[in-house]
Formats: sequence, structure tokens, C-alpha cells
Amino acid sequence: SKWKTFKNAATLGAVGFVGYTFYEMYYHRHPTEHPNPADPKKKTIVILGSGWASTSFLKSIDTDLYNVVVVSPRNYFLFTPLLPSCTVGTIDVRSLVEPIRFITRHKSNEVKVYEAECTEVNPEKKVITIVDNSEVKGDNATSTIPYDYLVIGIGAQSQTFGIKGVEEYGCFLKEVWDAQKIRTKLMDCIETAAFPGQSPEEIERLLHMVVVGGGPTGIEYAAELHDFLVEDLTHWYPELAGKIKITLVEAMPNVLPAFSKQLIDYTESTFKQQNIHLHTKTMVKEVREKEIIVQGPDGNKEAMPYGLLVWATGNTSRPLVKNLMAQFPETQNIRRGLAVDDWLRMAGTNDIYALGDATATKYAPTAQVAAQQGKYLARVFAQLHATEYYQIQAEESTTPEDKAKNMRKLQKAQDIKPFHYSHQGSLCYIGSDKAIADLPFGPGNLASGGVATYAFWRSAYISNLFSARNKWLVITDWTKKTFWGRDISRE
Ligand code: FAD
Ligand code: NAI
Repeated sequence: SKWKTFKNAATLGAVGFVGYTFYEMYYHRHPTEHPNPADPKKKTIVILGSGWASTSFLKSIDTDLYNVVVVSPRNYFLFTPLLPSCTVGTIDVRSLVEPIRFITRHKSNEVKVYEAECTEVNPEKKVITIVDNSEVKGDNATSTIPYDYLVIGIGAQSQTFGIKGVEEYGCFLKEVWDAQKIRTKLMDCIETAAFPGQSPEEIERLLHMVVVGGGPTGIEYAAELHDFLVEDLTHWYPELAGKIKITLVEAMPNVLPAFSKQLIDYTESTFKQQNIHLHTKTMVKEVREKEIIVQGPDGNKEAMPYGLLVWATGNTSRPLVKNLMAQFPETQNIRRGLAVDDWLRMAGTNDIYALGDATATKYAPTAQVAAQQGKYLARVFAQLHATEYYQIQAEESTTPEDKAKNMRKLQKAQDIKPFHYSHQGSLCYIGSDKAIADLPFGPGNLASGGVATYAFWRSAYISNLFSARNKWLVITDWTKKTFWGRDISRE
């Protein structure tokens, strides 16, 4: 009977998923036909960014209450947790993105979307400057937009600590184009190593893939690279594959400091089995075109030749955030990002809100936090609107009963709860179909690692993908990889 229950549940799940897919297909192709144009009587919220924080806010914000404008240099949302899989072709980047207009064109009121970068915020005049920094530019590539409220969800950029040569020679792993660049450069290194007459030292250098940073980004990239090497490159480059070496350099004594001790040990031993060379307590001091200078635990510096360098040492604030912080020196003095109160209002301002990686809070800069903040902030805005509405209603009440009723509603609207983060757990892929998971369990924590955790990792990410279309595409990519392997063509 257990088997029967399982079968029924699986059938129900499959039917539900197919039904949901058909519904989404219809929805996808049927945007709101005649959305109401912007209403001058409503306040305007300008949202910066189309990442986890801004997209989650955009999904939930009620456009009946506010005019909404979105400004972002990329016109899509990117599901970052699976981005490391794109660096070796396990997943195609197109499977992880969804246009932002897919959300905005389904709102009942018009939402303006501008593919542009915000370069300046003028909090006094309440206007922002936007610039079209894409390749194709029209006669006009700069504009200003007024706002009543500004929501900053512009994320962060890759940290280099000002180390010489990183920007020039390293590859970051944050955006779609980063993953594409890594994939291209990796294949270029391998093909160049196969070029006739290459010296053994040069072949060794070209086939040395170095990852700097033992946080989740560096670990997941090294793991994907290992799988690519074992599952594909060995077959197509039998003479070179044995010479490909993967090294991960980490400044701290261990990798993945945010995970439990047993999972750190498990990751490090799995890396050892996978022949990924781990150099902990080792700092990169300089990056040159063909070598990096590292300082090991003994304090000695040495040169490490490399072919491909992936730099994943965390986040730093974007120039716009730094610029804004400089305008509020008294309240904005945390270097990590924008200081916000418990309601996500930027410290020192009344009408600017910030969320996600652009902020400096007690939470880790993760997609989970950003998405929860976006949803929360949309509720804050609903309550702000209700507050204004019932204030007017209370003032205009003609009878004491009406006034009391409106005052009660006003009080309820004014009672805005502070942001509360609910941690759903941390996951990380570590290679060879193994993942680790730190999950909240009662008052404690459940730490697990291995192949079963990988199955959980896959299902968790599939269920969190943006749309049914993304889910189908990722499942197809995984299936394709299982049957045909990864594509080694250089893009
Ligand atoms: P982003 O998602 O980075 O979005 C920022 C947006 O702002 C982008 O649309 C960008 O184009 C736009 N923008 C930038 N500058 C400007 C400007 N000047 N004006 C207007 N718009 C601008 N977190 C997890 O919880 N789980 C994971 O498994 C996980 N995996 C990850 C894997 C990788 C490879 C990486 C890089 C990160 C991962 N993260 C994960 C972290 C997660 O991606 C970030 O915490 C999350 O993206 C932060 O969301 P955000 O909206 O603040 O910023
Ligand atoms: P990170 O900040 O988590 O890790 C960076 C690592 O680089 C640190 O361990 C640091 O000690 C090391 N480092 C710094 N400078 C160095 C140097 N000069 N030489 C050698 N090592 C150096 O950064 P990461 O991995 O980019 O993650 C950023 C955020 O995104 C984190 O909050 C992380 O939790 C989140 N994320 C989560 C994922 C997941 O849950 N699976 C996947 C990827 C990112």
C-alpha cells in the first residue's frame, strides 16, 4: 500500500506540473491587453535592478496603488544558484533567465521598463539619472526619472580587494556573460594546449585551472569543472585530460566557513578524492597574465602559473551605492553596503528603500534573503498606502462612528512589522553527484552530504526556478547531458 500511495502522489504531482505548465504557456502568451496608463494621482516607485530582490518586489507590488518604473541594465532575471553549471555547459544560460517584461506585462497597470543603468541618485530633487550603456545606442542615451519612492536592489559586484591584475586577467562568476566567458576561455586553454610544438611547461600552465575563493561560488565552480573533466574532457582529449589540474586557493584555514564543521570536512575530503588541489591559508597577492603570486601559510611568496583564473572572493558595493553612501556620511558608514532600518528604509532618508546584496545587514548576501526582503517590502508599501488613505478618511469622517472606524484601520495600517528572515537552509554542490545541505531542524540544524543530498539539491532548485518554462529547460539540459554529455565546442 506504501507503493500505491507513492504512485498516487507521483501521478498527482506529474499531473499538477503538466497542468501548471499549460496554464503558464497560456499566461506567457497573453499579457494584459490594455493596461491602465500611469496615473498622476498615484505615487511613483522607481525600482533599480532586475535581480532576486527587485524581481520579488515587482512580483508582489500592487500597481493599483502605485505607478511603477523599473530600471536595470539587463532586461531579465537570472537564477544565480545554477550559474556555475553554465560555465561547463551542464546547463544553458538561456534556461536560467526570464525577461522582466514577463512580470510587468501581466500587471493590470502599465509598468515602464528601461534597460539602463542608474548612474546617479539626487535625493533632494528626488530624481535619478539613467544611462543606456548597451552596445546599441540611440541619439539619446541619458535621461532623468523623477520618483516618489526609490527601491534600490542593484546587488553587489565582485570583490577584488584592489589586488593588482584581478580585473585584467581574472574571470568573475556573477552574471551570464561571466559564465560564457569562462566556458570560452576554458576551451581555448585546452585547444591552445593541443597546438603543435607547445612546450611541456606551457601545456602544464595552460591546463592549470585556478579558482580563488573557497566560498560557495568557488567550490561549486571547481566541482562543475571536475565533473566536466571526468565525464567529458577525458573522452575528447585523452592525451591532455590527465594533465588538467584544478587548484582552489583559499585565504582562511577552511573552505565554506558558513557551513557546519562536518560538512566542511566532508567537502575537503571529497575534493581530495576528486584530485582538486586545495591550498588553504594561502592569499593571492598579485595576478599576472600567466601566473599568480600567492603567499602560503609559511609566509613565503611563490608564483603559480595558470591558464584560467576564476576569481570568487565575495562581494563589494557597486559605484552607485558608494556614491549614495558618500551623500549621507553621518548615517551611511558601513563599507559593506547601504545601512537600512528594520523596515528596509535607507538610514538618513525618508523615501529611499534598499534590499538584497546592495545593503549591509546582519544577514548573508544570499538570494533567499533578497527574495524575502522583496516580498516583505511590497507589503510595507501596501501598508504605507493604506496609512495615507485612512489618514484622509479619518480627517474627512463626518460621524464619530466613521472616525473611530477609520482611526482603527489607520492604526492597523501604521503597525508595520519589521522584516523577519526565515532561513530555509544552505545548499552547495561539491562534485561527483554529491551536494551538502545545512538545514534548520527544530531548534538545531540538520547537516547532510552525499548523493541523496544531491537529489534533494536538484529538486530544491527545480522547484525554486522562476517559471515552468525554466523548469522544463533545466530538466531537458540535465537529460541532454546524461545522454549526450556536454558540448565542448568553443563559443
Ligand atoms: P542581483 O541578483 O545581483 O541583482 C542586481 C540587479 O541590479 C541586476 O539586475 C543588475 O543588472 C542590476 N543593476 C546593477 N547595477 C545597476 C544600476 N546601476 N542601476 C540599475 N540596476 C542595476 N544565493 C542563495 O541564496 N543560494 C544560492 O544557491 C546562491 N548561489 C549563487 C551562485 C552564484 C554563482 C552567485 C554569484 C550568487 C549566488 N547566490 C546564491 C547569491 C545570490 O545570487 C545573491 O545574493 C542575489 O543575487 C542578490 O540579489 P540582488 O537582487 O540583491 O542582486
Ligand atoms: P564568499 O564571501 O562566501 O567567499 C569568498 C572566499 O574567498 C572567502 O572564503 C575568503 O576567505 C576568500 N578570499 C578572499 N580573498 C582572498 C584572497 N586574496 N586569496 C584567497 N582567498 C580569498 O563569496 P562567494 O562564494 O562569492 O559568495 C557570495 C555570497 O553568495 C555568499 O553570501 C554566499 O553564501 C552566496 N552564495 C551562495 C551559494 C549557495 O548557497 N550555494 C552559491 C554561491 C554564492
